[in-house]
Amino acid sequence: MDFLSELRSRLRSALTLMTDTPDAYVEMLKPSQEVKFGDFQANCAMSLAKLARRPPRDVAAELISKLDVADICDPPEIAGPGFINFRLKTERLADETARLTRDERLGVALVATPRQYIVDFSSPNVAKPMHVGHLRSTVIGNALCRVLRFLGHHVLSDNHVGDWGTQFGMIIYGYKHFRDDAAYRNNAVPELARLYRLVNQLTDYHTVVAELPPLRAQIAAKEAAVASARQAADFKPTDKDAARAAKRAEQELSEHIAGIESAQTKCDLVESNPGLKSLADAHPRIGELSRRETALLHAGNIENKRLWDEFVPKCMQALESMYQRFGIVFDMSLGESWYNPMLPGIVEELKQKEMARISDGATCVFVEGNPAPFIVQKADGAFTYATTDLATIRHRVETLHADACLYVVDSRQSEHFQLLFATAKNLGYSQTEFRHVSFGTVLGEDRRPIKTRSGDSIGLESLLDEAIQNARKIVDENSSHLSDADRSNVSVLVGMGAIIYVDLHHNRDSDYVFSWDKMLATSGDTATYNQYAYARVCGILRKGGIDVAELRRAGHAIQLATPAERALALQLNRFSNAVSDVAIDYRPNLLTQYLFETANCFASFFNDCPVLSAEPPELRASRLLLCDATARILKCGLDLLGIGVVQQM
Ligand code: ARG
Repeated sequence: MDFLSELRSRLRSALTLMTDTPDAYVEMLKPSQEVKFGDFQANCAMSLAKLARRPPRDVAAELISKLDVADICDPPEIAGPGFINFRLKTERLADETARLTRDERLGVALVATPRQYIVDFSSPNVAKPMHVGHLRSTVIGNALCRVLRFLGHHVLSDNHVGDWGTQFGMIIYGYKHFRDDAAYRNNAVPELARLYRLVNQLTDYHTVVAELPPLRAQIAAKEAAVASARQAADFKPTDKDAARAAKRAEQELSEHIAGIESAQTKCDLVESNPGLKSLADAHPRIGELSRRETALLHAGNIENKRLWDEFVPKCMQALESMYQRFGIVFDMSLGESWYNPMLPGIVEELKQKEMARISDGATCVFVEGNPAPFIVQKADGAFTYATTDLATIRHRVETLHADACLYVVDSRQSEHFQLLFATAKNLGYSQTEFRHVSFGTVLGEDRRPIKTRSGDSIGLESLLDEAIQNARKIVDENSSHLSDADRSNVSVLVGMGAIIYVDLHHNRDSDYVFSWDKMLATSGDTATYNQYAYARVCGILRKGGIDVAELRRAGHAIQLATPAERALALQLNRFSNAVSDVAIDYRPNLLTQYLFETANCFASFFNDCPVLSAEPPELRASRLLLCDATARILKCGLDLLGIGVVQQM
């Protein structure tokens, strides 16, 4: 049973008798940090007392007198300045645990009012191979879909692939001018990726060549600004503003120089390579011309549309094989192109409702409080990422009847989503929850976005292969008793699990540093540790020749005589709370944290309490049931995260 929610609801009833705003205080009841403070602790009496200018312990006493928890808890105790400590009645905890061990859903209730969710995740731009940056959206989105479904919501997952953007013009241009026919016939997708990179590089080169001279010319002025700001600051050493201004000027100069250096590197890369340089010279207008290829495609040009029709299925197939490795099946993959016919209508409507106006030739929506325009049609007539996203919202709300739309996308797009959601509300889609489930960047050891040694982004495929290879080493070390085939199987689960878990266990808003060592550790907060804990329980049940179906059916009571058994039972009853917490703010790390704690509780229990050799038989059965429920919760929890387990490893 979800004791936390139950106690909070009892606390709410008591608080209503003492304050008009009980909700603000209910959340102050939390699981205790230490056993000596009971199982749960509330510090709300202190806050209430402050407002009422009364002694906190008196307020705590009054609150307790109004609280009806006698069926669940021993009498609550007041501690220190006015904490209220709750300790569950051990018999009640044992009864609820016994119920949980027989429950298909492990105590997790279905939500009372299921919502229709659309979860937009992964959504790579096709024709570029998936890289490590796509990992986060893919695993976070998948975990959220699984959790929401398990809670009983209706979920449609949608891979909003970028199949209509400027990269297609680049690929078409590349295909027309630089393709290697044999390579394309042999394996089209890597050849298309090469063409994309080449066109991108040549385009960048020309941009940079044009930009460098004016950038260089600005150095002198920036240096002069630094000198005079320095002088002003030195003249008045106590003036903090002057010191700050000097710092700022210095920083601007150093950023300017860094920008020039990185532009120079791009330049050098082309100029030091005669082949590239002659391509660059032969294609001086490549940027403009590949934009034109995109425009032609959008305008229905037959040749470009034919090429697009040829490229897209090949790219989608390559993506598909990646999703298979994660066990992900999308309900829909409506790419950007799918919304193309709806875009003129969207712009029309915005104009009619006087939400959009022309600014510098472009049609823009301006959102109150936000200086940046939301461009829905460029001066050259092209529709944008924004227009497509508005059409997508219309489809999701009007046709798919979404109650909530989640966008699992990099935090760098937060401004886009702010503008998008504000515009959608103004268009009348105000009943739907729109959420940018944003996440930070995967960093390398140097704390910069992770790259290969040659400076390219790391391909997702090679990342997964490497994880599985590394896992194989660990499995070979730890599991020599398994056959070669079993070890291969286990390595795939361990390798994939490690990658998925390491991503999910960080607070999604933060950047994190990618490190192979920690990720596969057999102890610590890793998938591997949880997978081992699961396999360990399976080992116990196997060794005892236990028929688990019979064990669950037999109706044994649960005994909680030792602290370790009690702690484990309490933890098992928290599962439902952990799962529903994930759905509140779309944070899978709350579930990884729970699973890690569960595996830890199990380790202490297993250390303190013999299982197979326990006497009498009722105690043995109780402990076996605790083992079984732990394994089922670990398996179910990992499964909700998209991570598999094996019985033996
Ligand atoms: N394709 C986009 C990118 O790679 C992400 C799309 C996210 N979804 C959306 N509806 N905008 O940046």
